[in-house]
Amino acid sequence: MSYLKMKNITKKVGNFTALSDINFELKEGEFLCLLGPSGCGKTTLLRIIAGLEEPDSGKVFLNGNDITNLHPSSRNFGIVFQSYALFPNMTAYENIAFGLKNKKNGKVDIKARIGSLLSLVNLTHVKSKYPSQLSGGEQQRVALARALALDPGFLLLDEPLSALDAKVRNRLRREIRETQEKLNITTIMVTHDQEEALTMADRIVVMNEGRIMQIDTPQAIYEFPANPFVADFIGDINFIEKDSTINAIRPENINIGKNGGIEAVLRHKEFRGAFYRLTLCLKENNQMVKVDIPSSGRLNLPDNEGKIFLELPTEKLINYKDQEHSYINKCSS
Ligand SMILES: Nc1ncnc2c1ncn2[C@@H]1O[C@H](COP(=O)(O)OP(=O)(O)OP(=O)(O)O)[C@@H](O)[C@H]1O
Ligand SMILES: [Mg+2]
Repeated sequence: MSYLKMKNITKKVGNFTALSDINFELKEGEFLCLLGPSGCGKTTLLRIIAGLEEPDSGKVFLNGNDITNLHPSSRNFGIVFQSYALFPNMTAYENIAFGLKNKKNGKVDIKARIGSLLSLVNLTHVKSKYPSQLSGGEQQRVALARALALDPGFLLLDEPLSALDAKVRNRLRREIRETQEKLNITTIMVTHDQEEALTMADRIVVMNEGRIMQIDTPQAIYEFPANPFVADFIGDINFIEKDSTINAIRPENINIGKNGGIEAVLRHKEFRGAFYRLTLCLKENNQMVKVDIPSSGRLNLPDNEGKIFLELPTEKLINYKDQEHSYINKCSS
């Protein structure tokens, strides 16, 4: 049986449909990411799961029980909001202890519990500091520990890492995932960062304009995007139009042809560390194509405006029939 089940959830805000017929299920211990552009309804969906908002129609089930109208305080979740709002006049320790004190746990109990939480998120050394004396990453971990303090059945995280710089974010991704696995706590994390979703999630729910576009593992979503929106939103991809079909192919799946292929002109090359990103124009129809070539391979590229032949392996082409053509990029001449 699924742990959490969302069934036909719809939510309007005024005249605007923020969520439209949302359906998905979650297993116990799973780490699910809600991924989509700003305004697509991620926070609204998370708030409905938490019980902070009610859907207009549809139901939420937890362990098979209908909890659609259950008060948030009876749902046993831990939540870290989009802005992680710690109490500024309390130390890291006191912030984490706050919810426990409210629950009237014994003093010794609280001390032991917080001690283990502090070491779980590597904060023991800063436990007496106030939020203003902590780095962004440390504040984020305090917020996480505070959400975990009450031993919640599931954890809801709304863009917990968005305010942090790349290095700290990468480290915290691992730490959050490790903590989640250690505690085997079912987790839903909202993000608009595709890399974050790809690296952290067991499965990703890709959303757009209040609808689910695809639900699958990171690998499956990257390899077999269900529609052009998903293909375009996750990773880089080329859309190439031929007759009435659109083929999509990732830049790393296009090869430079040694003995012919599709003729293209090199417009631009960019060194990106592990690979070169080439921008080319197909001679046949002036479509723009991005190609990634590993920088470790010895490559003999022509100068810009030089001729290159491309090979598009058929097994790497993803086919979209009768879809919008708006994703196709033409070269400016
Ligand atoms: N109280 C409200 N009144 C009017 N519109 C609202 C309200 N709350 C949310 N919306 C709209 O509903 C849509 C979904 O909002 P939501 O906050 O769920 O998006 P999001 O995916 O979390 O975006 P972000 O990535 O920017 O946080 C947005 O277009 C937003 O403008
Ligand atoms: Mg949001």
